[in-house]
Parts: sequence; C-alpha cells; structure tokens
Amino acid sequence: MCGIIGIASSKPVSINIINSLKKLEYRGYDSAGIATLENNFINEKKCSGRVDELEKILFKSPSDGNIGIGHVRWATHGVPNIANAHPHSSESVSVVHNGIIENSDDLKKELEAKGAIFKSDTDTEVITLLITEELKKSQPLKSVFKTIKKLKGSFALGIIFKDFSDFIIGARRGSPLAVGYSSKENYLGSDSYALKSMTNKISYLDDGELCVLSKDNVSFYDSNEKKINKKIHTVSDEKNISDKGDFKNFMSKEIFEQPLTAKNCISEYLDSLKKDINIINFPLDPRNIKKIILIGCGTAFHSCLVAKYWLEELTSLDIEIDIASEFRYRKLKFDSDNLYIFVSQSGETADTAAALDICKKNNVKTCSIVNVIESTIARNSDWVLPIHAGPEIGVASTKAFIGQLIVLYILSLKISFLRGDLDKKIYNQKIKNLENLSNSIKKTLALESNIQLMAKEFLNARGSMFLGRGSSFPIALEGALKLKELSYLHAEGYPAGEMKHGPLALIEEGLPVIVIAPKDKYFEKTLSNMQEVIARGGKIFFITDNKKDSISENIRFGIRVPYLDSLLSPILLAVPLQLLAYHVALLKNCDIDKPRNLAKSVTVE
Ligand code: F6R
Repeated sequence: MCGIIGIASSKPVSINIINSLKKLEYRGYDSAGIATLENNFINEKKCSGRVDELEKILFKSPSDGNIGIGHVRWATHGVPNIANAHPHSSESVSVVHNGIIENSDDLKKELEAKGAIFKSDTDTEVITLLITEELKKSQPLKSVFKTIKKLKGSFALGIIFKDFSDFIIGARRGSPLAVGYSSKENYLGSDSYALKSMTNKISYLDDGELCVLSKDNVSFYDSNEKKINKKIHTVSDEKNISDKGDFKNFMSKEIFEQPLTAKNCISEYLDSLKKDINIINFPLDPRNIKKIILIGCGTAFHSCLVAKYWLEELTSLDIEIDIASEFRYRKLKFDSDNLYIFVSQSGETADTAAALDICKKNNVKTCSIVNVIESTIARNSDWVLPIHAGPEIGVASTKAFIGQLIVLYILSLKISFLRGDLDKKIYNQKIKNLENLSNSIKKTLALESNIQLMAKEFLNARGSMFLGRGSSFPIALEGALKLKELSYLHAEGYPAGEMKHGPLALIEEGLPVIVIAPKDKYFEKTLSNMQEVIARGGKIFFITDNKKDSISENIRFGIRVPYLDSLLSPILLAVPLQLLAYHVALLKNCDIDKPRNLAKSVTVE
C-alpha cells in the first residue's frame, strides 16, 4: 500500500529517495513520484508503474534538491496514472499521503466554490489545496495543524514548502509514520524498513502528532500544538533481507525459509533445558480467562481460525474469531475477563489496528501476535508475542502464516496447561513433537516436484475448489486465497461438509478440487464428501499425511505430508498449497512478489 519517504539533508536526496522507495515496493503500488526543493522551485516528477520508470525519468532529467519527498501509490481514489500519482503540488506546497480522506468530496466542493482547480481525482489533492489556502495566512506548521483539523479519515503526510527550503513536515493520524535520524540528515518513512539502509535510529509518530525535520534537527508536536519529546528506538539489524539469494523471487525464498522460521520461532518460546514453554507476563491469569477472541485479516484471519480449533480442542474456553473489518463495526459486549488477540504480519493493517483501538477504549486486555515488533499494533497492545519470522517481502504471506500458527499453537498449549486442561504427560509430548516441526516442514518442501506436476493441471482450469474439515477447513481457505492472489485463478475454499448445500453445483467435468484430509477424526467424512465430487466429474488432488496409507484410485494426484501430531497437521498441510499457488503463478508468468491490485501492508480501511 502507499509508502512515503522524506529526506532533509545537506546534499542532493533524489537517489536515496529512489532507493528507499524501492524498499517500499514490497507493500504493493501502481505509480510513483518524487518532489525536491531546488532554489525555491518544487521539482515534481511522477510516473505510472514501477519505481524503475521514475529512476529513468530522473536519470534523463536529474533533481538536485537537498530536501525531498517520495511516494509509491496504491490507488484508492482515481485510476493509477501520472495525474493521480503523488506528490500533489501547488504553487507553494507539495504533499505525499498515505491513507484515505473520507470527507474529501465535501472539502473539494468547498475549495472549488472558492475557485480552486483540481488536477487529479485523488482525495490527497484537497490536502495540498487546503494547506495552500492556509499558507496565505499562516506559517507552515500552523497551516498544517489547521488543515488536518478539517480532515476526516486516516493519513500519514510528508509535506515540503516552496518558500521554506530547509524542512519537511510530517503528520500522522491512523496511518503509520516513522522518523529516522543520522548525523547529517533526517528521514521520514512509512516504516523503519524503508529507512534501514540509512539509519537504525527510529521514532514513531503517534496519532495526532506532527514532526518538523531539517538536516540537523527534528521537532515533534502533539495534537495541542505543544512541543514534545519522542523516544528513539534502535531497530534490529537484520542482514540480507533484501537479498533473494539463488531464489527467483522473495516468495520462493520465504517458502523455503520456513523450516528456519519454525526453528527460530520455536526456540524463542521453548526453554530447551526445562523442556517447557517460556511464555510469561500474561495480561490475564489464564485460569480466569472467560473467553478468547481472535481477530485478523486475510491470511492472519485464517491463522485465527486454525487457533480456534486448537483452543477448543485443548481448553475448556469459549473461543470467538472475527475478521477485523467486521469486528470494528459490530455492537459488542466487551468483558474485562476476555482476552482479545490480534494477529498481523505487518502490525500495520488499518482494520486490525482499528479493532485493537476499540478494545483499548473498552479497557479490555489485548495481545498481539506480529512479525514487525516496532509496528503500531505491537506498540498499542498490552502484550506482544512476536513471530520472529524476519522480514516478509513477498506480498503473499507464507512464512509469517507459519510463524503465526506456531505462536498460536504454543500459546494454546501453554494456556491449556496453566488452566489444568492438559495433562503434564501430553503437554510434554506435544512440546517434544514441536521440536520436530522444522524437520517435517523441510520434508514437506521436498515434495515440490510432485506439486510442480500438479500445478500444470491448473493451467487451463476455469476455477478450482479447496475442501477440508476441522482445522483443514481454514487451510482450504488459505490454499484458495494463495491461488487466487498469485495466479488470478478463481478458487473457493469450503468446509467439505457444506458442498451439498450449494457449491456442489459448481462441480463439472475436470474442475480441479483440492481435498485436504489428514488422517484425523474427519478423514472418513471428508472421503465421503470427496466421492460426491468425483461422481460429478471433479478432478481430485488429494493432500493427506503419511499416518496410514491408502489413497483411492480415483484420485489424480496424492501428496502426503509427514505426520507429526494431529494438531500440527494444519501447519504441514499449508506448505504444499503455498507451493501449488506459487507454481501455478510461475507457469502463468504472473508477478509473484507483487500480485496485481494487492498491497503488503494494508494501511487503508
Ligand atoms: C495474503 C495476505 C493478506 C494478509 C492481510 C493481513 O497472502 O498476505 O491476506 O494476510 O492483508 O495482513 P497483516 O497480517 O499484515 O495484518
């Protein structure tokens, strides 16, 4: 989703802005732009498409300013073209924006009535023109304060001023914004990752705050326009994150990193000496928790759904799950004995962050399971359980999903044990099984060549279905999500038992149907549902585990993942589905790391 960069320096900034914009590419975008200040002139350059295009434009016609802002845009208001790309500049100011201005239509009408002329279809341009109006009466800082008071919605802003050539103003409400420091220049960025090559000293703006950054100073202001101090964090120094190594793309690298993800994550939470789970500081005593509510979006929501099956199996607790964009608008009864768990790779997803805010306003205890520990969601929750997966660059979530599942599983075991729901012997055995998970993921990845063959069968398909029961149902949803987002092939995930209530009508001769059926209590039931599909011509791709054999002859391909523990099956079954989506997309020549229309960090509602 949109990304912002700003640099105030004593030397030309355009090359570093371009390099930082490249770091933000992983978020997903469709146009890019830059504006620098040169001798009281706003030098704006924009393109539709990739940052490489912008770089070519700058190569032909360089920008020399020492103060500049850059942006990658993920279209919300107006198609992705040059006019709608950011920055949006007037005769006096240039603005980059991440977020959505909800009252932009009303503000636009007011401005047009006063004679303003709009050059784009974006909501952002109202900000440019409002600040331009205010600048006629006030200084820059005051003008920005006055403008943002008129805005409804969410924003992170980077603003430069034609007549004030030594600073950038940043402002935040809802959308994240970070400030970076170095000895000779200072930075503004949508996330610390974009600034990492320049600094690891970062402050984060909170809602309503503004910052003014020049090459040798940064000042912060709260929403009452009072100067404030901000904490400076040192962000972790993760090496080689932007290096694909020998892999074709980040997604394949991240899929094949999963044994390591599992190993790292498990070793963070297991005390290998005591052979125990070392999760401490619960915000509520697990014995007194009344209900657990798990909230997330997309793949993270699928993790919540798997965890619901685990927690129900392992504990006597009531478990509820919700999609964050639904949760935030429900009329809910909050209970201080409930634990609200938010799952998010980025920790910046707007709906998840808003759902968390609602919980905070209702004074209930919150826990976040995130990959980015410096993120808004992590900073705003009472308790953080990081997944330790390392940066995930491919837009489609893979290793973060596995990391989320592992943390949720470990948490489920610990809660169950502390509540006395799980016998010590079984608890110990489950911990032992976890220690073999990384190796089992590795063995599952070795099935890639079979999955490559399977992928060919999807090339001419008009659609596909993914079926599972129990905890394999969320894995079916996740498999379908991965296939559609990467290969643009329609895919539906369904509980196998629901087929006869409608979706069976979709089955026609040759339709690929992926049946996910580990040898658990649902196995025979799923096989019956599968027969109903076979009888109607569906082409079955069967994914099971190697607990017992016997794969029916009617099945076109069978994939058997290692069996470890019935509760761990969803983690292993997810892996072939990631590989399937990956190989179908590869055969279809799709942009694997940046699927069309998608963003890595969904910072708008
Ligand atoms: C799918 C995918 C998305 C994200 C969703 C939530 O592969 O990546 O569905 O899972 O946008 O993002 P986070 O986890 O960052 O909150």
